[in-house]
Amino acid sequence: MLVEMREQADKVIARCRYLAQFTEEPGQIKRTFLSPAMRECMQTVQGWMEAAGIQVVTDAAGNLRGRYPGASSTSLMIGSHLDTVPNSGAFDGVLGVMMGLALIEALEGEKLPFAIELAGFSEEEGVRYSLPFIGSRALVGRLDAELLETKDGDGISLARALTSFGLDPSRLDRCVLSDDVAAYLEFHIEQGALLESEDKSLGVVQAIAGQSRAEITFAGRARHAGTTPMRLRNDAVAGAAEWISEVERVALTTPGMVATVGDLRTHPGAGNVVAGQLRASLDVRHGEDAVRHQAVDHLLAEAASIAKRRGLATVSKMLMDQPAVTMDARLCRLAQDAIRGIGIEPLSMVSGAGHDAMILAERVPSTMIFLRSPGGISHHPEESVRAEDVRNALAAGLAFLRNFDSYCALPILKEQSTPHV
Ligand code: GLV
Ligand code: MN
Ligand code: MN
Repeated sequence: MLVEMREQADKVIARCRYLAQFTEEPGQIKRTFLSPAMRECMQTVQGWMEAAGIQVVTDAAGNLRGRYPGASSTSLMIGSHLDTVPNSGAFDGVLGVMMGLALIEALEGEKLPFAIELAGFSEEEGVRYSLPFIGSRALVGRLDAELLETKDGDGISLARALTSFGLDPSRLDRCVLSDDVAAYLEFHIEQGALLESEDKSLGVVQAIAGQSRAEITFAGRARHAGTTPMRLRNDAVAGAAEWISEVERVALTTPGMVATVGDLRTHPGAGNVVAGQLRASLDVRHGEDAVRHQAVDHLLAEAASIAKRRGLATVSKMLMDQPAVTMDARLCRLAQDAIRGIGIEPLSMVSGAGHDAMILAERVPSTMIFLRSPGGISHHPEESVRAEDVRNALAAGLAFLRNFDSYCALPILKEQSTPHV
């Protein structure tokens, strides 16, 4: 078994690295929602899934959805996302999909008492539409008409992007999880340094921090950089800079909070022009929704007040308010027991990063298993994972599968006692 897991683990890592070639930008990994690179990635993953006896479809939101049949219609969904941030590493998201595939392969055609649904979500990072979780939102019925009108940087609506990719937005309601899905399990690299600092291989996520995302535009007057005296300027960049310092101060002085301004776009964007406009992203996260809301309200008010003092205007747009989510306690115990069953003590963790599991949890009991991130590095090309941790996660995943029918014993017994005609 150990030798087999070693081979399977090496294969999981090799596949993640192989998929890194599907990118929109040569020289880096960048695979955004419904891009040609994403199509190529999906085709490759679909081929691997089909070779493992999985029936695969692409749903109307562009998610790859596979089904490995079991003895009943009750199913366990395993998944994560196939999209990436710009200049990404090879494991964020992709690892979770490859883990699910490797677990199914390890079953070697054996029929479990339940089916496994393997999901490769089309969008989790929020890069193209400044709106994360597009793929998993479809599974809980949250891709509504208003969201479909959201435009990307090129003015292409979400509905149009789906249609151009060959998908049919009028069929989005068919993406919604069926009542047969009893639970959701996601494997993911930790993306932080906690497991490493505790010298632990695996963790079980008990909760995922809530996040707010917003876009703030500072509007001033574009002027000549050489001839406009400092006191006569309405510099959008200088105003935003003052506000960004406040963002950092608030997060530094609020325990448990992280706040990030990771994307700035200036207009007209030339070194010798005082910027007339700056668009800034804002990402605020905290385990308690009330604390996060209070910080966001303060920061939006502060943007307006700094702008006013500098003769600038601001427009703020809230893009997302995703509450903190707790994972299902029973399912977390099942994951912990599976990890303990292979002789490892898991760490109980709160995830600062967002994950598809926080969306799925709205509808189905969910849990996550984290694998140690060497150096805590993620959203960066140096992101990696240790083969030893993938081996442990696979062994724990198999133990989880072996015990999962006890988790949902009642529905399976009920189903098996129903005579089929
Ligand atoms: C997803 O990677 C996130 O931004 O949390
Ligand atoms: Mn990510
Ligand atoms: Mn991820």
